[in-house]
Amino acid sequence: MNIVVSNVKGGVGKTTTAVYLAASAVERGFDPVLLVDADRQASSAEWLEARTVEGVELEEAPSERTVGRAMERHDGLAVVDTPPGDERIVRAAVERADAVVIPTRAGGVEFSRVVATVEMVPSKTPFGIVVCAARLGTNDLAQTVAWWEAEQIPIWGIVPERVAIASGPEARLSREGIEAYSDVLRRATRRRPR
Ligand SMILES: Nc1ncnc2c1ncn2[C@@H]1O[C@H](COP(=O)(O)OP(=O)(O)OP(=O)(O)O)[C@@H](O)[C@H]1O
Ligand SMILES: [Mg+2]
Repeated sequence: MNIVVSNVKGGVGKTTTAVYLAASAVERGFDPVLLVDADRQASSAEWLEARTVEGVELEEAPSERTVGRAMERHDGLAVVDTPPGDERIVRAAVERADAVVIPTRAGGVEFSRVVATVEMVPSKTPFGIVVCAARLGTNDLAQTVAWWEAEQIPIWGIVPERVAIASGPEARLSREGIEAYSDVLRRATRRRPR
């Protein structure tokens, strides 16, 4: 199974989401778990090289061809981190996905970028958004959730803003983060029509 993490917008939480989804998959007993890093900046690769994510195999695949091949030849669960702005790589990954996770933030400017990403997802492929670095209890978040619900875009997770989740390759993954993303993983791996 291939779960692709995508949003054509940069800096929304794609790499954080991909790393935490892979770590949650290890905890839930998926084996093997592969993290396919399709971003030339190799930010997922940095997390893994720092060995903060045990049990996840890394494959760097920074082109349409390599990402397609990586997704087709494994027999476990792969989480694919995609680059911002490189629509061809995103498209190559999204076309082969069994589920697409779209990280986003609360706030109005995000909507059109999510819609642009959703439009790339093939019609039978399940997808859902994850609101990253959410400020729980704020009007901004409540309005964002209401907006997505009105648009009938499934919300697969709301991950709170936490220093421990933001801390990057040097630090261990946060327990709260793994638990929040474990729910996202459950939704992404559940087969259902959308
Ligand atoms: N739940 C969270 N709490 C706090 N900070 C977060 C959270 N999720 C993500 N961040 C922070 O937001 C920033 C952007 O996240 P990330 O690098 O995952 O985004 P990205 O979409 O992969 O970016 P790029 O498009 O550059 O690849 C990072 O500094 C990250 O630590
Ligand atoms: Mg990234």
